[in-house]
Amino acid sequence: MARVFVSRRLVGDGLERLRAAGHEVDLWDERTPPPHATLLDRTGTADALLCTLSDRIDAAFLGANPQLKVVANCAVGTDNVDVAAARERGIPVGNTPGVLTDATADLAFALLLAAARRLPQAARAVFDGEWGPWMADGFLGHDLTGTTLGIVGAGRIGEAVARRAAGFEMTVLGTTSRGGTPLSELLQRSDFVSLHVPLTPETNHLIDAQALARMKPTAILVNTARGPVVDTQALIEALHAGTIAGAALDVTDPEPLPPDHPLLQAPNVLVVPHVGSATPRTRAAMTDLAVDNVLAALAGEPLPHPAPAP
Ligand code: 8YV
Repeated sequence: MARVFVSRRLVGDGLERLRAAGHEVDLWDERTPPPHATLLDRTGTADALLCTLSDRIDAAFLGANPQLKVVANCAVGTDNVDVAAARERGIPVGNTPGVLTDATADLAFALLLAAARRLPQAARAVFDGEWGPWMADGFLGHDLTGTTLGIVGAGRIGEAVARRAAGFEMTVLGTTSRGGTPLSELLQRSDFVSLHVPLTPETNHLIDAQALARMKPTAILVNTARGPVVDTQALIEALHAGTIAGAALDVTDPEPLPPDHPLLQAPNVLVVPHVGSATPRTRAAMTDLAVDNVLAALAGEPLPHPAPAP
Protein backbone atom coordinates (compact mmCIF):
# COMPACT_ATOMS: atom_id res chain seq x y z
CA MET A 1 0.00 0.00 0.00
CA ALA A 2 1.28 3.43 -0.93
CA ARG A 3 0.28 6.91 0.13
CA VAL A 4 -0.81 9.43 -2.49
CA PHE A 5 -1.06 13.13 -1.72
CA VAL A 6 -3.72 14.78 -3.91
CA SER A 7 -3.38 18.55 -3.76
CA ARG A 8 -6.95 19.53 -4.73
CA ARG A 9 -10.55 18.37 -4.77
CA LEU A 10 -10.97 17.05 -8.33
CA VAL A 11 -13.90 16.36 -10.65
CA GLY A 12 -15.07 12.75 -11.14
CA ASP A 13 -14.55 9.59 -9.14
CA GLY A 14 -11.05 8.76 -10.37
CA LEU A 15 -9.57 8.81 -6.87
CA GLU A 16 -11.76 5.80 -5.98
CA ARG A 17 -9.54 3.70 -8.23
CA LEU A 18 -6.54 4.61 -6.05
CA ARG A 19 -8.45 3.47 -2.95
CA ALA A 20 -9.70 0.33 -4.72
CA ALA A 21 -6.07 -0.54 -5.52
CA GLY A 22 -5.38 -0.40 -1.78
CA HIS A 23 -3.60 2.95 -1.70
CA GLU A 24 -4.14 5.57 0.95
CA VAL A 25 -5.36 8.88 -0.47
CA ASP A 26 -4.36 11.98 1.49
CA LEU A 27 -6.62 14.58 -0.11
CA TRP A 28 -6.34 18.36 0.29
CA ASP A 29 -10.13 18.53 0.15
CA GLU A 30 -10.46 22.15 -0.99
CA ARG A 31 -11.30 23.92 -4.25
CA THR A 32 -8.23 26.13 -3.85
CA PRO A 33 -4.58 24.99 -3.62
CA PRO A 34 -2.73 24.27 -0.37
CA PRO A 35 -0.12 26.79 0.83
CA HIS A 36 3.33 25.78 -0.46
CA ALA A 37 4.46 24.81 3.08
CA THR A 38 1.48 22.45 3.42
CA LEU A 39 2.14 20.99 -0.03
CA LEU A 40 5.74 20.35 1.01
CA ASP A 41 4.76 18.92 4.38
CA ARG A 42 2.02 16.56 3.14
CA THR A 43 4.09 15.41 0.14
CA GLY A 44 6.92 14.57 2.55
CA THR A 45 5.00 11.50 3.76
CA ALA A 46 3.72 10.49 0.31
CA ASP A 47 4.97 8.01 -2.30
CA ALA A 48 3.11 9.79 -5.11
CA LEU A 49 1.94 13.33 -5.75
CA LEU A 50 -1.13 14.17 -7.82
CA CYS A 51 -1.01 17.94 -8.30
CA THR A 52 -2.41 20.74 -10.44
CA LEU A 53 -1.04 23.68 -12.38
CA SER A 54 -1.04 25.98 -9.34
CA ASP A 55 1.44 23.80 -7.43
CA ARG A 56 5.05 24.89 -7.94
CA ILE A 57 7.07 21.67 -8.17
CA ASP A 58 10.58 23.09 -8.52
CA ALA A 59 14.05 21.60 -8.02
CA ALA A 60 14.06 22.46 -4.30
CA PHE A 61 10.68 20.76 -3.82
CA LEU A 62 11.86 17.66 -5.69
CA GLY A 63 15.13 17.67 -3.75
CA ALA A 64 13.13 17.62 -0.51
CA ASN A 65 11.02 14.69 -1.77
CA PRO A 66 13.41 12.11 -3.26
CA GLN A 67 11.01 9.33 -2.13
CA LEU A 68 8.41 10.32 -4.75
CA LYS A 69 7.69 7.63 -7.34
CA VAL A 70 5.73 10.02 -9.55
CA VAL A 71 4.54 13.60 -9.98
CA ALA A 72 1.20 13.30 -11.81
CA ASN A 73 0.14 16.75 -12.98
CA CYS A 74 -3.60 17.07 -13.58
CA ALA A 75 -3.03 19.31 -16.62
CA VAL A 76 -1.52 18.90 -20.06
CA GLY A 77 0.88 21.80 -19.45
CA THR A 78 3.77 20.98 -17.14
CA ASP A 79 5.40 24.39 -16.87
CA ASN A 80 4.67 24.34 -13.10
CA VAL A 81 6.98 21.31 -12.77
CA ASP A 82 10.75 21.34 -13.23
CA VAL A 83 10.66 18.27 -15.47
CA ALA A 84 14.44 18.31 -16.03
CA ALA A 85 15.12 18.34 -12.27
CA ALA A 86 12.65 15.48 -11.81
CA ARG A 87 14.42 13.49 -14.52
CA GLU A 88 17.78 14.01 -12.83
CA ARG A 89 16.28 12.56 -9.65
CA GLY A 90 14.60 9.68 -11.49
CA ILE A 91 11.09 10.90 -10.62
CA PRO A 92 8.73 10.43 -13.60
CA VAL A 93 6.37 13.30 -14.41
CA GLY A 94 2.99 12.69 -16.04
CA ASN A 95 0.41 14.94 -17.68
CA THR A 96 -3.09 14.64 -19.18
CA PRO A 97 -2.84 15.01 -22.97
CA GLY A 98 -5.64 14.47 -25.47
CA VAL A 99 -8.69 14.51 -23.22
CA LEU A 100 -8.84 18.31 -23.03
CA THR A 101 -8.09 18.99 -26.69
CA ASP A 102 -11.68 19.56 -27.82
CA ALA A 103 -12.78 21.53 -24.75
CA THR A 104 -9.80 23.86 -25.09
CA ALA A 105 -10.26 24.24 -28.85
CA ASP A 106 -13.95 25.01 -28.25
CA LEU A 107 -13.00 27.75 -25.81
CA ALA A 108 -10.38 29.20 -28.18
CA PHE A 109 -13.05 29.41 -30.86
CA ALA A 110 -15.61 30.84 -28.44
CA LEU A 111 -13.12 33.57 -27.51
CA LEU A 112 -12.33 34.23 -31.16
CA LEU A 113 -16.02 34.58 -32.07
CA ALA A 114 -16.84 36.65 -28.99
CA ALA A 115 -14.01 39.10 -29.68
CA ALA A 116 -14.72 39.21 -33.42
CA ARG A 117 -18.42 40.01 -32.90
CA ARG A 118 -17.82 42.21 -29.84
CA LEU A 119 -20.09 40.12 -27.62
CA PRO A 120 -18.77 41.46 -24.27
CA GLN A 121 -19.40 45.09 -25.34
CA ALA A 122 -22.83 44.28 -26.77
CA ALA A 123 -23.92 42.22 -23.74
CA ARG A 124 -22.71 44.92 -21.34
CA ALA A 125 -24.76 47.52 -23.20
CA VAL A 126 -27.90 45.44 -22.67
CA PHE A 127 -27.22 44.98 -18.94
CA ASP A 128 -26.44 48.70 -18.62
CA GLY A 129 -29.82 49.68 -20.15
CA GLU A 130 -28.15 51.05 -23.27
CA TRP A 131 -30.11 48.98 -25.81
CA GLY A 132 -31.52 51.85 -27.84
CA PRO A 133 -32.98 51.95 -31.33
CA TRP A 134 -31.40 49.69 -33.95
CA MET A 135 -28.43 51.42 -35.54
CA ALA A 136 -26.96 50.46 -38.89
CA ASP A 137 -23.45 50.91 -37.52
CA GLY A 138 -24.04 49.62 -33.98
CA PHE A 139 -21.55 47.09 -32.56
CA LEU A 140 -19.96 46.32 -35.89
CA GLY A 141 -17.54 43.43 -35.57
CA HIS A 142 -15.43 41.32 -37.88
CA ASP A 143 -16.51 38.67 -40.38
CA LEU A 144 -14.87 35.26 -40.11
CA THR A 145 -15.65 33.81 -43.53
CA GLY A 146 -12.77 34.28 -45.92
CA THR A 147 -10.36 35.53 -43.25
CA THR A 148 -7.08 33.96 -42.21
CA LEU A 149 -6.42 32.25 -38.89
CA GLY A 150 -2.82 31.85 -37.75
CA ILE A 151 -2.21 29.00 -35.34
CA VAL A 152 0.98 29.38 -33.35
CA GLY A 153 1.76 25.87 -32.17
CA ALA A 154 -0.12 23.57 -34.51
CA GLY A 155 -0.10 20.53 -32.20
CA ARG A 156 -3.11 18.61 -30.89
CA ILE A 157 -5.10 21.64 -29.70
CA GLY A 158 -3.97 23.88 -32.56
CA GLU A 159 -5.10 21.26 -35.10
CA ALA A 160 -8.47 20.98 -33.35
CA VAL A 161 -8.89 24.78 -33.65
CA ALA A 162 -7.97 24.50 -37.35
CA ARG A 163 -10.75 21.90 -37.84
CA ARG A 164 -13.27 24.32 -36.33
CA ALA A 165 -11.96 27.14 -38.56
CA ALA A 166 -12.62 25.00 -41.66
CA GLY A 167 -16.33 25.16 -40.83
CA PHE A 168 -16.10 28.95 -40.99
CA GLU A 169 -14.33 28.83 -44.37
CA MET A 170 -11.21 30.40 -42.96
CA THR A 171 -7.74 29.96 -44.42
CA VAL A 172 -5.51 28.42 -41.78
CA LEU A 173 -1.78 29.00 -41.37
CA GLY A 174 0.14 27.04 -38.79
CA THR A 175 3.57 27.19 -37.28
CA THR A 176 5.28 24.54 -35.18
CA SER A 177 8.75 24.25 -33.70
CA ARG A 178 9.55 21.96 -36.67
CA GLY A 179 8.22 24.11 -39.49
CA GLY A 180 5.06 25.37 -41.13
CA THR A 181 4.57 29.05 -41.91
CA PRO A 182 7.35 31.12 -40.33
CA LEU A 183 6.03 33.06 -37.32
CA SER A 184 6.75 36.51 -38.76
CA GLU A 185 4.85 35.67 -41.97
CA LEU A 186 1.97 34.11 -40.02
CA LEU A 187 1.65 37.25 -37.87
CA GLN A 188 1.66 39.51 -40.93
CA ARG A 189 -0.95 37.51 -42.88
CA SER A 190 -3.43 36.52 -40.13
CA ASP A 191 -6.68 38.24 -39.19
CA PHE A 192 -6.83 36.11 -36.03
CA VAL A 193 -3.82 34.67 -34.22
CA SER A 194 -4.44 31.83 -31.75
CA LEU A 195 -1.67 30.62 -29.42
CA HIS A 196 -1.23 26.91 -28.62
CA VAL A 197 2.43 26.49 -27.65
CA PRO A 198 3.55 25.07 -24.30
CA LEU A 199 5.32 27.54 -22.01
CA THR A 200 9.07 26.95 -22.24
CA PRO A 201 12.10 29.28 -22.07
CA GLU A 202 11.82 29.52 -25.90
CA THR A 203 8.13 30.52 -25.93
CA ASN A 204 8.28 32.90 -22.96
CA HIS A 205 7.29 36.34 -24.41
CA LEU A 206 7.15 34.83 -27.91
CA ILE A 207 4.50 37.47 -28.58
CA ASP A 208 6.42 40.60 -27.62
CA ALA A 209 6.23 44.21 -28.87
CA GLN A 210 8.00 43.27 -32.10
CA ALA A 211 5.63 40.37 -32.80
CA LEU A 212 2.57 42.51 -32.04
CA ALA A 213 3.88 45.20 -34.40
CA ARG A 214 3.94 42.60 -37.20
CA MET A 215 0.22 41.87 -36.77
CA LYS A 216 -2.50 43.68 -38.74
CA PRO A 217 -4.15 46.62 -36.96
CA THR A 218 -7.45 44.78 -37.53
CA ALA A 219 -6.17 41.49 -36.06
CA ILE A 220 -7.34 39.78 -32.87
CA LEU A 221 -5.04 37.77 -30.60
CA VAL A 222 -6.44 34.70 -28.79
CA ASN A 223 -4.49 33.02 -25.98
CA THR A 224 -5.61 29.74 -24.42
CA ALA A 225 -2.01 28.50 -23.93
CA ARG A 226 -0.13 30.14 -21.06
CA GLY A 227 -0.07 33.80 -20.01
CA PRO A 228 3.71 34.39 -20.20
CA VAL A 229 3.75 33.43 -23.90
CA VAL A 230 2.57 37.03 -24.34
CA ASP A 231 4.47 40.05 -22.97
CA THR A 232 1.58 41.59 -21.01
CA GLN A 233 3.00 45.12 -20.94
CA ALA A 234 3.61 45.04 -24.70
CA LEU A 235 0.05 43.79 -25.24
CA ILE A 236 -1.42 46.61 -23.11
CA GLU A 237 0.55 49.15 -25.14
CA ALA A 238 -0.44 47.54 -28.46
CA LEU A 239 -4.14 47.61 -27.54
CA HIS A 240 -3.99 51.28 -26.49
CA ALA A 241 -2.02 52.24 -29.60
CA GLY A 242 -4.31 50.30 -31.95
CA THR A 243 -1.41 48.15 -33.14
CA ILE A 244 -3.91 45.25 -33.00
CA ALA A 245 -7.71 45.38 -32.76
CA GLY A 246 -8.30 43.20 -29.72
CA ALA A 247 -7.27 40.31 -27.47
CA ALA A 248 -9.29 37.43 -26.05
CA LEU A 249 -7.47 35.65 -23.24
CA ASP A 250 -8.12 32.54 -21.15
CA VAL A 251 -4.67 32.84 -19.60
CA THR A 252 -2.78 35.88 -18.39
CA ASP A 253 0.47 36.89 -16.74
CA PRO A 254 -0.01 37.24 -13.80
CA GLU A 255 -2.70 34.74 -13.04
CA PRO A 256 -5.10 35.31 -11.41
CA LEU A 257 -5.29 38.83 -12.80
CA PRO A 258 -6.01 41.40 -10.07
CA PRO A 259 -9.19 43.41 -10.80
CA ASP A 260 -7.19 46.67 -10.91
CA HIS A 261 -4.62 45.30 -13.40
CA PRO A 262 -3.98 47.75 -16.30
CA LEU A 263 -4.70 44.96 -18.83
CA LEU A 264 -8.37 45.22 -17.86
CA GLN A 265 -8.34 48.95 -18.70
CA ALA A 266 -7.04 48.31 -22.23
CA PRO A 267 -9.57 48.62 -25.06
CA ASN A 268 -11.14 45.54 -26.68
CA VAL A 269 -9.81 43.03 -24.22
CA LEU A 270 -11.81 39.97 -23.16
CA VAL A 271 -10.47 37.90 -20.25
CA VAL A 272 -11.86 34.67 -18.79
CA PRO A 273 -10.30 32.91 -15.77
CA HIS A 274 -8.37 29.93 -17.26
CA VAL A 275 -11.39 27.78 -18.09
CA GLY A 276 -10.09 25.99 -21.22
CA SER A 277 -10.75 22.51 -19.86
CA ALA A 278 -13.69 23.46 -17.63
CA THR A 279 -16.37 20.93 -18.50
CA PRO A 280 -17.31 18.06 -16.16
CA ARG A 281 -16.52 15.40 -18.77
CA THR A 282 -13.12 16.86 -19.59
CA ARG A 283 -12.10 17.53 -15.99
CA ALA A 284 -13.16 13.99 -14.95
CA ALA A 285 -11.13 12.56 -17.84
CA MET A 286 -8.11 14.60 -16.71
CA THR A 287 -8.47 13.16 -13.19
CA ASP A 288 -8.60 9.66 -14.72
CA LEU A 289 -5.40 10.16 -16.72
CA ALA A 290 -3.57 11.53 -13.70
CA VAL A 291 -4.77 8.52 -11.65
CA ASP A 292 -3.63 6.15 -14.43
CA ASN A 293 -0.17 7.71 -14.15
CA VAL A 294 -0.11 7.27 -10.36
CA LEU A 295 -1.31 3.66 -10.51
CA ALA A 296 1.29 2.75 -13.14
CA ALA A 297 4.16 4.36 -11.23
CA LEU A 298 3.14 2.68 -7.96
CA ALA A 299 3.02 -0.66 -9.80
CA GLY A 300 6.57 -0.04 -11.03
CA GLU A 301 5.41 0.42 -14.63
CA PRO A 302 6.20 3.21 -17.10
CA LEU A 303 3.72 6.10 -17.11
CA PRO A 304 1.00 5.77 -19.77
CA HIS A 305 1.00 9.56 -20.16
CA PRO A 306 4.53 10.86 -19.57
CA ALA A 307 5.18 14.60 -19.80
CA PRO A 308 7.16 15.59 -22.90
CA ALA A 309 10.92 15.74 -22.37
CA PRO A 310 12.10 19.26 -21.50
C1 8YV B 1 -6.51 23.33 -16.86
C2 8YV B 1 -4.61 23.64 -18.56
O1 8YV B 1 -7.56 24.21 -16.68
O2 8YV B 1 -4.24 21.34 -18.76
C3 8YV B 1 -3.76 22.46 -18.81
O3 8YV B 1 -2.56 22.64 -19.06
O4 8YV B 1 -4.17 24.73 -18.65
C4 8YV B 1 -6.05 23.45 -18.25
O5 8YV B 1 -6.56 22.33 -18.83
C5 8YV B 1 -5.62 23.31 -15.71
O6 8YV B 1 -4.30 23.17 -16.01
C6 8YV B 1 -6.07 22.29 -14.69
O7 8YV B 1 -5.11 21.95 -13.76
